[in-house]
Amino acid sequence: MAAAREPEVIRDKAAMRAWSRRRRAEGKTVAVVPTMGYLHQGHLSLVSAAAASADPVAIVVTIYVNPSQFAPTEDLAIYPSDFAGDLRKLASTGVVDAVFSPPDLYDRGTGRRAAASGGAVSCLEEEAGDGHETWVRVERLEKGLCGASRPVFFRGVATIVSKLFNIIEPDVAVFGKKDYQQWRIICRMALSINRSLVDARTAALKGNTDCEQIRNKIVQTLTETGGQVDYVEIVEQESLVPVERIDCPVVICVAAWFGKVRLVDNIEIDTRS
Ligand code: PAF
Repeated sequence: MAAAREPEVIRDKAAMRAWSRRRRAEGKTVAVVPTMGYLHQGHLSLVSAAAASADPVAIVVTIYVNPSQFAPTEDLAIYPSDFAGDLRKLASTGVVDAVFSPPDLYDRGTGRRAAASGGAVSCLEEEAGDGHETWVRVERLEKGLCGASRPVFFRGVATIVSKLFNIIEPDVAVFGKKDYQQWRIICRMALSINRSLVDARTAALKGNTDCEQIRNKIVQTLTETGGQVDYVEIVEQESLVPVERIDCPVVICVAAWFGKVRLVDNIEIDTRS
């Protein structure tokens, strides 16, 4: 194991995003390990997986107890926490560069309403009043198993993971498979945006190198899956200058809004290899 190293603690969203962008500009892959803290060996093995995912890699561990995945009847108030202990454990791995631990990631609005009178279904709504009400849902996969008895859990997880991705803009995200349904739902969410890019690469490698056609197809797929496209750009990899045909190494960069969440993704294509 590497020598102990204190991770930088980042609380602010803009500072977190700037940190990630700096690491990427240095040529590093940004890998994130989302957690709710109170770390144990399982979390540290996810950190090891993140460390093995790329070289050079910059690793961010998020520590955020997400209120929206708890129902009012559940245990948010007594959810265990040991931030100092978590930092010590992460430092002992010697590979974690930053810990993102924001104070709150939801718009709490101005009004407050009681759970009983407001019909709240999660700890967040109990307080939200006119605040946050936009959710990311993975509707089919969230229905059975734990979703049957915890109806707000996966909606909360998908929403917070989208927010974290939007802030950190990671290249790699590592999740445990202990909660298999959660793991599958997160994969599915990331997949809907990624699939359009993989299809585009397949098409380009088969000889369809017309950027306008490829771009239109990606826009169509994202729109059909409920996204609102911010941009889809096909650019030369080094200069980032837009191209009309894929006859040099390119990267397709996509940003799209799903509700209030903005997801970004990209895929590199080199038709010569
Ligand atoms: O598995 C967890 O710890 C949480 O559900 C996650 C993925 C960090 C989202 O809050």
